[in-house]
Amino acid sequence: MPDSGPDKGMRRGLTKYGDEAFSLFLRKAFIKAMGYSDDALGRPIVGIANTGSGYNPCHRTMPELVEAVGRGVMLAGGLPIDFPTISLHESFAQPTSMLYRNLMSMDTEEMIGAQPMDAVVLIGGCDKTVPAQLLAAASAGVPAIQVVTGPMMTGSHRGERLGACTDCRRFWGLHRAGEIGAEEIDEIGGKLCPTAGTCMVMGTASTMALMTEALGMMLPGGAAIPAVEADRLRHAEASGVRAVALAAESLTPDLVMTPAAFHNALAVLQAIGGSTNALVHFAAIAGRLGIKLDLGAFDRLGRDVPVLVDLKPSGQFYMEDLHKAGGLRPILHQLRPWLDLECLTVTGRTLGEELEAGPEAWPQDVVRTKEDPLCREGGIVVLNGNLAPDGAVLKQSSASPGLMSHTGRAVVFDSLEDLAARIDDPDLDVSAEDVLVLRNAGPKGARGMPEAGYIPIPKKLAQAGVRDMLRLSDARMSGTAFGTVVLHICPEAAVGGPLALVRDGDRISIDVAARSLTLDVPESELEERRPEWAPPPLAATRGYKALHLVHVLQADAGCDLDFLTAKPTGATTPEA
Ligand code: FES
Repeated sequence: MPDSGPDKGMRRGLTKYGDEAFSLFLRKAFIKAMGYSDDALGRPIVGIANTGSGYNPCHRTMPELVEAVGRGVMLAGGLPIDFPTISLHESFAQPTSMLYRNLMSMDTEEMIGAQPMDAVVLIGGCDKTVPAQLLAAASAGVPAIQVVTGPMMTGSHRGERLGACTDCRRFWGLHRAGEIGAEEIDEIGGKLCPTAGTCMVMGTASTMALMTEALGMMLPGGAAIPAVEADRLRHAEASGVRAVALAAESLTPDLVMTPAAFHNALAVLQAIGGSTNALVHFAAIAGRLGIKLDLGAFDRLGRDVPVLVDLKPSGQFYMEDLHKAGGLRPILHQLRPWLDLECLTVTGRTLGEELEAGPEAWPQDVVRTKEDPLCREGGIVVLNGNLAPDGAVLKQSSASPGLMSHTGRAVVFDSLEDLAARIDDPDLDVSAEDVLVLRNAGPKGARGMPEAGYIPIPKKLAQAGVRDMLRLSDARMSGTAFGTVVLHICPEAAVGGPLALVRDGDRISIDVAARSLTLDVPESELEERRPEWAPPPLAATRGYKALHLVHVLQADAGCDLDFLTAKPTGATTPEA
């Protein structure tokens, strides 16, 4: 009978009965009810985090992925054991899936720690699942590999390719403007998500997948394989094979997720025109290892690193096109001057070694060269000023050039409810030059910082042909959305940030080149307004929601819960 060794396999983390031999005896007695042999139970154990759920179409292929990972584990001589965790889908978690990211991370971390496993393969995909699993991996300290479900294939409507959910928003905007009728929008709704998998534009899921591969936590080539391709299963199998070796090598996530590895992932974020949400998630993941994500350095990195990937919403292509173009590999080749190629990956080799081992890039149109980029600067800028003392972000690669330097009159919405009630009011005093302001939509103000920052263009302006306006909030925005939308204003209004003091008619200025966001109201007047402000009442008094409201950190710290972060090591990322 093989023996995985002391404190390994079934001997790992014994249940406490005060008699270790009895604990092991009892554990084996119970698990024999699963039909395992002594041979199987003597093997290294690889846990597989199974996030299949009837509420999660992005994870529809979970059963076959779990099977493929398990096959790989067995091919390498290990015992695969899958276990369920929370699963989150963007459209099926209210008020926002973000509220539950930390809960999923806690569930995953605790189940990795509580149950015997020598390594774990984490299978996620939809926006919050991969961040939650990486948070868990960072905190649990068990060797881990990330696998994603992979992107959907594109749909088609009357000869036009469709991708969720950039085209969901684009067509909905046309419907609001009266250009598309009820029948056609219903028809489009049936074609936006034609296969299993995650959103196939450069939304948060695609961004997280590519950044995770660049971080070194995924086997090379895994980020962009479509969910329904056979290669996706071969990648899952290979991850299972590798997980067994990872367990033997004790290659823990902290050895992979170093400040330099985060730097690499953040350079990729700038180059892919990725989702602003990834900045929040990576601040939290780094924070779990005591590393601070320096927003100023990230912005400086973006002054150098251009947008190279021509995917929606910044460009025109979709993830299946990026896969055919070589996935992350051609991006990394172009980014060589900005990468630390010495970073260790879960393969046990460095990022540079992996890059050398693969094919050179071939001619294609999806990944541009750094000499001929899609945008000269990176996708995301960090803004500062008296309205955002701790920063705010803007995805400049999908913003309107004409609004990058703009001053306008504030039209303020106090909450999501206020926004819903008044945005389409025909009597709303608003023009295309105004600045739409939404507040109390941050991590505390709206329980989880929903993706409400993509404030709809008021109907009367949309019908008049207005397609973009300067919008700002303490909320997040879907990575699939587009427009001149300033997000993550820190501190948020609900904790007394200056956003709480803005009034209708105030002048607000943005200058993206200067990275400034300014409320043109004298400091003395803001101080006069401050006593009139009072924090909103806590929106929950019990259970996880109350725990979240009391302990959640601001967006610049990743919206993690304060008791989950690691003690700061003094390390920062990225280097710039
Ligand atoms: Fe799951 Fe977009 S809704 S990735």
